[in-house]
Amino acid sequence: MATGKFITFEGVDGAGKSTHIAAFADSVRQHGKTVITTREPGGTVLGERLRALLLHEPMDLETEALLMFAARREHLAQVIVPALTRGDWVISDRFTDATFAYQGGGRGMSLDKLSQLEQWVHGDLQPDLTLLFDVPLEVARERLQRTRDLDKFEQEQDDFFVRVRQVYLQRAEAFPHRIRVIDSTRPIADISRELQQVAAFLCGE
Ligand code: TYD
Repeated sequence: MATGKFITFEGVDGAGKSTHIAAFADSVRQHGKTVITTREPGGTVLGERLRALLLHEPMDLETEALLMFAARREHLAQVIVPALTRGDWVISDRFTDATFAYQGGGRGMSLDKLSQLEQWVHGDLQPDLTLLFDVPLEVARERLQRTRDLDKFEQEQDDFFVRVRQVYLQRAEAFPHRIRVIDSTRPIADISRELQQVAAFLCGE
């Protein structure tokens, strides 16, 4: 039975991924697919409650990583796997690459421990494609300045974001067939055009 495709959007805060998700989902729908869009942490009732804690409560680093994976487990069980099994497409605003980048790169948690958690929670399931929106620190900062009410992660210092970006780019090198880097310093219209082409390619046209 044909299953749907699982696509994730990633990038440092301020890279602009959120601008493109809805339009990308619409492009895929225009090719006749049923698409759900969702996000992490979150995507379920429990996951959204964990998100509120994760984004605003200070906590031990490993607690943070475990809660990210707990929310993810629920998301997989309730939303992602059932949708893919139905043949629907799932587009998620962030997934496990974010945990490697933020808890691993940003906060310094052992990447090895994170791999063990990844293996435990979704060993046999990886995104079919990850779009990594990449911008240098200054651009991300400039964009974030326009946001009010910054969350716990968005309030981090510059070196945190430099490390987050570094791990994202390392993963793009390690998984070149899964992760496509989108130069997000370009005008929005250019990126939209590239994403329309990606959607057409994925839909087999
Ligand atoms: P984000 O996706 O940027 O949403 P918004 O656009 O509403 O701010 O917010 C999620 C935050 O959670 C982001 O700063 C990255 C962080 N995060 C992690 O640290 N680890 C994770 O595993 C995930 C999924 C997110």
